[in-house]
Amino acid sequence: MKGIILAGGSGSRLYPITISVSKQLLPVYDKPMIYYPLSVLMLAGIREILFITTPQDQKAFQKLLGNGADLGCNFEYAIQDEPKGLAEAFTIGEEFIGKEKVALILGDNIFYGNGFGNLLRSKVDVDGASIFAYPVKDPERYGVVEFDDNKKVKSIEEKPKVPKSKYAIPGLYFYDNKVVEYAKQVKPSARGEKEISTINQMYMEAGKLEVGVMTRGMSWFDTGTVESLDDATEFIRVLQNRQSTLIGCIEEVALIHKFIGKDKLESAIDKYEKSKYGDYLRNLLA
Ligand code: TTP
Repeated sequence: MKGIILAGGSGSRLYPITISVSKQLLPVYDKPMIYYPLSVLMLAGIREILFITTPQDQKAFQKLLGNGADLGCNFEYAIQDEPKGLAEAFTIGEEFIGKEKVALILGDNIFYGNGFGNLLRSKVDVDGASIFAYPVKDPERYGVVEFDDNKKVKSIEEKPKVPKSKYAIPGLYFYDNKVVEYAKQVKPSARGEKEISTINQMYMEAGKLEVGVMTRGMSWFDTGTVESLDDATEFIRVLQNRQSTLIGCIEEVALIHKFIGKDKLESAIDKYEKSKYGDYLRNLLA
């Protein structure tokens, strides 16, 4: 399975912070935001990853992450000229995806929870589409999924004014190769974006959409507003300091999943110099 991280967008809800910097490069406590979704794809066992960014931010992402060799991965980069919607990931990424299945994660989504790695690895052989639902207080900000009495998906709506349920769809999606054809058929919505909800509706109508409800053991943040970014930072700070382990440490995930050995970890460490992140990796090596 291949992976795409969508890290474009305008980040306008975070202005002035994101006028000159990509949202996905902002710190979430001690590391750039993009480390968290990247670690999620790696946790799923995905090593071939495409980063989609704005034209002006691509260089900064390449400077941060390179070609992925340090992590035993292969990273590619593509540009989305304008933030015309999440569904564009699969048309921009068509060549990269080739004939494979693909996972998409949004660059500003953070997930953490017990058993998450196993959950992810159970999705990589998806037949159709597999997405999640997460109960939130403000579902009108998201794609919303409604279930019938038998817990079957009844409807999917993008940012409805009157949500039919409290279940938002987090920014993590697993698709078979049909997604490329479906994405080509998506027409812009009333707000001018090619919505991923339209793709999910297509899978639903074909009877090929699976929606897993994330229970309270899972934490999910999207960091698109100042408050949610601050919440995510606080969450990571408290958990890391309490548990003495890092969340979203991409080198650790690479080591545990045997993408790299200790020799490569050693060379990766140099780039972190005197930071605490570097110290953590040096401890790991020892
Ligand atoms: P959003 O938070 O919906 O949009 P945004 O990042 O442009 O921010 P704002 O609404 O404050 O202007 O985007 C969710 C994620 O998807 C985020 O990581 C950016 C990314 N994205 C793209 O890469 N391309 C797009 O066309 C859109 C809409 C979002």
